[in-house]
Amino acid sequence: MRRSYMAGNWKMNYTRSEALSLVKELLENGSFKNKVLVAPPFTLLETVSNAVKGTELILGAQNMSTAESGAHTGEISPLMLKDLGVQAVILGHSERRSIYGETNEIVNTKIHLALKHSLEVIFCVGETLEEREAGAAEKIVRDQVLKGLKDISEKQMESITIAYEPVWAIGTGKTASPEDADDIHSVIRKEIEELYSKETADQLIIQYGGSVKPSNVKELMGKANIDGALVGGAALKAETFIPIMEYNK
Ligand code: 13P
Repeated sequence: MRRSYMAGNWKMNYTRSEALSLVKELLENGSFKNKVLVAPPFTLLETVSNAVKGTELILGAQNMSTAESGAHTGEISPLMLKDLGVQAVILGHSERRSIYGETNEIVNTKIHLALKHSLEVIFCVGETLEEREAGAAEKIVRDQVLKGLKDISEKQMESITIAYEPVWAIGTGKTASPEDADDIHSVIRKEIEELYSKETADQLIIQYGGSVKPSNVKELMGKANIDGALVGGAALKAETFIPIMEYNK
């Protein structure tokens, strides 16, 4: 049985005081039977790190450099994340891919570097609306998985969660139907089985992301291959994130 994993991606939101009050509400009013992560922007990591120390709430970052140090203006290295107590990093988010030009190869480099520094990875994949309408969703996602995981060992897969986020469902209020999401999740699981083994595929946590809300978490999580959620908008308020993070499959 896979343990459900709920992650809140705060994207580019909040100041330190706002972050602190949200985290305090999650810790005071939420429970942690599921694995739960929050990923604040870089500027809030130290504040949130201090607040979650000694609790079960996992601290994640939203991105990371391809390099460890040096002449990379504006970038943040895995060493800096580790220094702040960050445990996991979201890589390959569609906003990084589409707005900032991250390719599958860049995402692969980042995954290797994160794992080298013992950061867990939430590796995001997902097709655009045009790709879905052209009937290419499966092919695109399979290709992202294959290239993103190039030269990642079976042992390293223990530190990787895959998040399927159809780009057209992010921040739009449109959710993939639970059946459509589950179909792609099963394609991903099958591909992991082909690349590694049935055991690794069975253990892999696959999150769904894209307009997850308290009102749709039940039907999404009801699907066999959906093991968690990567939540944007609804992760910004305790009253909407707590029912999701506590959802008991
Ligand atoms: P929304 O939940 O706001 O659609 O965002 C999803 C997402 O991109 C999480 O990474």
